[in-house]
Amino acid sequence: MAAGIVSPVRNCPSMMTGSALLVVAVLSVMMAAGGASALQSGFYASSCPQAEDTIYSTLQQLHANDPDLPPVLLRLHFHDCFVRGCDGSVLLQGSGTERTAPPNARLEGFAAIDAAKAAVDKLCPGVVSCADILAFAARDSVKMVGGPGWTVPAGRRDGTVSLASEASSNLPGAQMDVNQLTANFAKQGLTRDDMVILSGAHTIGEAACVHIDNRIYDYPSASGVDPLLPKDFAAKLKKKCSTRGLTDRKFDLDSGTSAVFDAQYYSNLAKRTGLLTSDQVLYEDARTRPLVMESSNKANFFPKFTQAMVKMSQISVLEGAQGQIRQRCGYVNA
Ligand code: HEM
Repeated sequence: MAAGIVSPVRNCPSMMTGSALLVVAVLSVMMAAGGASALQSGFYASSCPQAEDTIYSTLQQLHANDPDLPPVLLRLHFHDCFVRGCDGSVLLQGSGTERTAPPNARLEGFAAIDAAKAAVDKLCPGVVSCADILAFAARDSVKMVGGPGWTVPAGRRDGTVSLASEASSNLPGAQMDVNQLTANFAKQGLTRDDMVILSGAHTIGEAACVHIDNRIYDYPSASGVDPLLPKDFAAKLKKKCSTRGLTDRKFDLDSGTSAVFDAQYYSNLAKRTGLLTSDQVLYEDARTRPLVMESSNKANFFPKFTQAMVKMSQISVLEGAQGQIRQRCGYVNA
């Protein structure tokens, strides 16, 4: 990460003109967004030419026996990038690491990343970072379930620090409104539009019932049910999530097509069948509704999603001599 170039200047504001300050401010935002990272497409073309194909085929084989793998891996990359940047810190094991934080309680997919790492390390030991594997895996996952493919700029290095407290303070919550979500994404250098588009990842996968208690049991209305929910949909939710606090029962994030990466997530929002509060608010808020409507068309959504993923995947990356290439993704090298 080139943030080191920026910070010494930032420390001496008295030496700078107004325009220099502006340049630094713009650069800082770009760094936070990863806009100025030096990641490269085809980074492993000479050091490990088979890396991307090997990761893809390993994950594809695992997917054959585990249909839930793509959403799990897409979410894993997001949870990595929002905490200390896309540095593989979400993978580190041990007490007090990100994995132990409440928002990461039900993260999965670690074994699949380990399998992909083992497969590439067999070909090119110690070359491909775990952080890059996460970014490739997110792209591959989307592709495997009918979504668009894209080129993943690579060259990320693995971090050595992972703190539960940082996961808790940086990951967005399912009950957030548009202001809160926008502020949460802005901390990562992402815009409100990026937030709306990246939320489209909820076109695949499921959420544990506990995340909708606030909509079907605890809403501040006489019935305790969010009045936005269509009656038949609320009944379905209550049937599946038959009591508060269930973590072992799940409901599809994108009712109807949650196994396929399509644009139906957005049309569902217009029908008020978004699952989480943080999904439905995107339609209810006049500032985000236009992009929701536009994105219900795949032709609009897919290119925007790929761009936003490339942007997210460059948040505060470690590069060059920073960090390390972990030998095992769950552990810092001895
Ligand atoms: C906008 C703010 C977001 C919030 C509040 C949010 C919240 C959540 C929650 C609560 C779940 C269910 C987890 C569980 O059951 O424990 C979930 C699942 C998921 N999230 Fe998000 N998320 C957000 C953005 C994103 C982004 C940006 C991505 C990826 C780019 C993403 C990808 C996923 C996927 C794929 C799943 C399904 C996982 C599975 O089936 O195992 N989410 N999200």
